[in-house]
Amino acid sequence: MITIALPKGRLMEESVEILNKKGFNIEIPQSRKLFFYDSEKKYKFLIVRAQDVVTYVEYKAADLGIAGLDVLHEHDNDVLELLDLNIGFCTMVVAGKDKNCFAYKNRSIRVATKFVNIAKKHFVVKGINAEIIKLYGSIELAPLLGIADCIVDIVSTGATLKENGLKVIEPIFESTAFIIANKISYYTKYDQINSLLEIVK
Ligand code: PRP
Repeated sequence: MITIALPKGRLMEESVEILNKKGFNIEIPQSRKLFFYDSEKKYKFLIVRAQDVVTYVEYKAADLGIAGLDVLHEHDNDVLELLDLNIGFCTMVVAGKDKNCFAYKNRSIRVATKFVNIAKKHFVVKGINAEIIKLYGSIELAPLLGIADCIVDIVSTGATLKENGLKVIEPIFESTAFIIANKISYYTKYDQINSLLEIVK
């Protein structure tokens, strides 16, 4: 059996949709149960927070997982990126109230984000001293309330930025979701994993 960690939220729906289109028979439980099986019991699925998928895979609680590049770049875990699923499209951006909002005042700015490592790296490379404020959600509020000059966050439809009067200042990278694998599982379950990849491709 192969254990697959699925990311809770929007990406889980897209993941299940694409897997079912390829012939899987997966039904997400409507209860609070956090694991389930496909109808043939060939696969076990874990329902975990998107940010935790890579951890479950790295520690071999799951052989495979589905994770966005946003999460993979942020956590830099020791896992294999096997296949781009071409779902979960989003862009990591710097955004703020207007294009000049982070006029790099004295080359020092305050940045609110869930993606601390990505934000740090982005501004270090630009030679800008950024104070990073870690938030866990509703990041778009931070510039509106004056606690940050800008945010680093993902944009998908753009609705959240628009409805909160923020604009993209600069894109950082495009993100899609990948099937990732635990390194040991990839070798010990090589045939099973590769036949799954062939089906999903
Ligand atoms: C994510 C992200 C943005 C929003 C972007 O938040 O942090 O806030 O989605 O999506 P959009 O461009 O389609 O509007 P999420 O929905 O995960 O909620 P959160 O703020 O609680 O993290």
